[in-house]
Amino acid sequence: MRTIDWQDGLIVAIDQTRLPHEVEFLRIGTVDELIAAIRSLAIRGAPAIGVAGALGVALAARLHPDDPARLRRVVDAIRAARPTAVNLAWGVDRVRARLDAEGAEAALAEALAVLEEDVRCCRALSERGARWLVETVGPQVAVQTHCNAGALATVEWGTALGVVRSLQEHGALTHVYASETRPLLQGARLTVWELAQIGAPHTLVVDSAAASVLAAGLVDAVVVGADRITANGDVINKVGTYPLALAAARAGVPMVVAAPESTVDLATATGRDVHIEVRAPEEITALGAAAVAPAGTETLNYAFDVTPADLVTAIVTESRVILPADGGRPDDPTGRA
Ligand code: MRU
Repeated sequence: MRTIDWQDGLIVAIDQTRLPHEVEFLRIGTVDELIAAIRSLAIRGAPAIGVAGALGVALAARLHPDDPARLRRVVDAIRAARPTAVNLAWGVDRVRARLDAEGAEAALAEALAVLEEDVRCCRALSERGARWLVETVGPQVAVQTHCNAGALATVEWGTALGVVRSLQEHGALTHVYASETRPLLQGARLTVWELAQIGAPHTLVVDSAAASVLAAGLVDAVVVGADRITANGDVINKVGTYPLALAAARAGVPMVVAAPESTVDLATATGRDVHIEVRAPEEITALGAAAVAPAGTETLNYAFDVTPADLVTAIVTESRVILPADGGRPDDPTGRA
């Protein structure tokens, strides 16, 4: 099953807001619908929104063939739908360049290439990550993860959960601890759903128990995805990743980031230069329809955080392993990899 695809001129994507209760697909035929799906996290996860952006440009080109000014405006709007994951801008820019040079049909071909590449890259980085883990921590690996970096966050295989799936295929996975991921519960709703689908043994913990899981020696590695990796090796990922990395360092457990090269942003120097999305107060002042904080409470609802490079043991992509805590940098082709 593909999380996102192109069918009969429409973007078809699983509605991640309905999981784990219902598996429903959105059939998106307008740019407004696409932007709403990305903003509401119906389509979410860095690689998946990169593909959505790429397909969105192809869709827009079909909708506005004779209005270049409008086309430019709506493509800009897709690119700006969420600010933190670099994949969205990357996917949009890649297809827009092809559109400008060769027209709408070439743009669609480029968008479909982005989609297919995601499948190949996720498979390759997952194999590389699983191999690195087995070589580094031993033949049997228990993993702790955060948020959802699985099939749902990509086209069909996943990044961090792709590594988990590769470990499982090689008989090297013992257990997965997934943190619930406040406030939108991507861990509880999506990661646990995916782990159940693939039959991987797993346990759900609250975010604030993550350090205790590490301190208790229950896991051999933390494996997470990323929304952006800056030139110096800082990692921007779902809020809660930075505390996990601090706890992993204290426990002496490797902190591994699995992401495609499309998440590596060499144009941005450090995590301090990244726009961290701040989302609506209601996401933390209410649970569904029930208020859990006094009306009008001020919030600071960071959607992501920055894990400094020195806390990142390894970044695994489809083409390399970078070791930031050991001095490796994404922008250094000769760096330790
Ligand atoms: O707000 P979300 O759910 O889009 O955040 C997603 C994450 O932080 C993921 O860990 C990241 O995009 C990597 S997904 C392969």
